[in-house]
Formats: sequence, structure tokens, C-alpha cells
Amino acid sequence: MAKKLTAPAIRARKGGDKLTMVTAYDEPSARIADRAAADIILVGDSVANVVLGRGDTLAMTVDEMVYHTAAVMTAEPNALVVGDMPWLSYHTTPDEAVRNAGRLIRDGGAGAVKLEGGQKRLDVVRAVLAAEIPVMGHLGLTPQSVHAMGGYRVQGKQAAAAYELITDAKLLADAGVFSIVLEGVPDVVAAMVTDEVAVPTIGIGAGAQCDGQVLVFHDVLGLHDKRTAKFVRQYANLADVAVEALERFFADVRSGDFPGADEIYHMPEESAEILRELTEGAGGLRNAGVARDSFLADEAMEQ
Ligand code: KIV
Repeated sequence: MAKKLTAPAIRARKGGDKLTMVTAYDEPSARIADRAAADIILVGDSVANVVLGRGDTLAMTVDEMVYHTAAVMTAEPNALVVGDMPWLSYHTTPDEAVRNAGRLIRDGGAGAVKLEGGQKRLDVVRAVLAAEIPVMGHLGLTPQSVHAMGGYRVQGKQAAAAYELITDAKLLADAGVFSIVLEGVPDVVAAMVTDEVAVPTIGIGAGAQCDGQVLVFHDVLGLHDKRTAKFVRQYANLADVAVEALERFFADVRSGDFPGADEIYHMPEESAEILRELTEGAGGLRNAGVARDSFLADEAMEQ
């Protein structure tokens, strides 16, 4: 049986076998990810986009993230489950951040939390770590900063911005995060970060040099027919498979082919016969009265 992965075990994979990570938001998706041997399952706030159909992740709440994390944990995956901290759950005070991170661990059952940002979030990262909660960092195109970034744009394209990103990564690693997601950054910048920090980097739109890669469940499996980012490789088109399956189900309903004999609960023939006599006798169901009681007594004796 595969061993349960922990944050220290992931941390120890720096420079070793590539880490595999995928998002999941409920029990079935977590079971699928775990059967495929994911190292890390991220209960991402991308649930807002791919499950709730929203244009951004900003309205997610701690309660909702706890709900999805607990659903994922029902699958009892061997993968490390990381709960994503939603926007504004760690931007006010370190105390509030610790309480909210604690909810993802205590109520959701996650083994670690992820939060976005570098230097600006160092106090919060340190406080959460001091509460014995493993933290995964997230730098580059951080979706919770969509308005500050002026849209979903690749980050660190200019030397100064790239230098700042590398500095942020070092600060996070020195503070004690066990890994860092690098999203939407040029491959050369991600490669430099990966060389510079002692913890694994996990890329999404950050090139091939990272210590691991992550994609969103619905993107990688083609569970929707919306446009995806350039960095997404779609390994299946399950939305088309699902549409085709439902079309066949509906056709069978219309033709009367569904349900078939094996898909029906059957009544013992003697009971069916008694029922027919009951309903067809004088007065039918409405006036069955005493006759009904004696029929039912007979039936009970026969069984
Ligand atoms: O919410 C999410 O799914 C993420 C990944 C894209 C890294 O943060």
C-alpha cells in the first residue's frame, strides 16, 4: 500500500524525482487523482473558476474552502492534501491568518496550506509556520492579485520584476515554506528560482526546470469546453465523452430501451397476484377494507 505523503516528505524531494500535483475539489476527483498516484492534491481556489463558473477566485470564503477540503479528505488520499487559503483570509493580521489556516487543517483535514505572495506576506507565513502548519508558497501570476496585476498576465518578464520574484522565493524558503508554486513566469526565471532555493518549486506555466508540475483537474481532463491557457496540456476530453454518454442515455429513455429487465426491482409473483386480486376485486382499492386485511395476512403467512 502506498504511504501517506507529508509536507516534510515533499520538501525532501528537492532535486529528486519530479513532483506531480493536480487540483481536486471533491471526493470523486480526489479518488481519481490518488489512483493516478499524485504526490500532492491541491484543493485550489480555482474551484471558483472550474466548478462554480466564476471569472475569478476572489469571492471564495474560508467556509467554502473548508467544505471542499473536507470533501477531498473523505477519499483518504495518500497524496498530501494542500488547502488553498482564499483571498482576504490572510491579508489582514497574522492572527486571523493562523485561525483561518487552522480551520483548513482542523475542520478540512488538510496537511498543509497554500497562500499567495512573497515579501508582503512574510509575517503571515512565519505566523502560520509557528502554529505548526506547513505552508506552500505561490509566486508569479497570483490569481488573487488579478486587479493589482491589471489582469492575468505573465509576471517577471522584465529583469527588475524577475529579480524581485527570485528574492521573494528566497525569503519564503528561508522562512520555512516546504515548497513554492511558480505560476505564469518565463522559464528562465523559474529555472533560476529552482536553482536558488532549497525547497521544491512546482510550476504551472513556468517551464520545464521546476521540481514538479501542477495543472487544474478540469483543464487536464478536458472537463469543460472553455479556452485554456497556453501552458495547459489536455490529456483527455471528458466533456465530449460525458455528452456522448448522456445522449445515449436519453436516446434509450426515449426508445423505451432503458431500464431493461436487469435494471428493475421485481416483485414475487405470488405478491403480484395478491395485489392484482386486491385492486381488481369488487370496489378495487378504495373499498378493499376487510378483504385487504385477510389477503395481506395470507401473503405474510406464505412468505
Ligand atoms: O487554485 C489553484 O488551482 C492554484 C493552482 C493553479 C496552482 O492555485
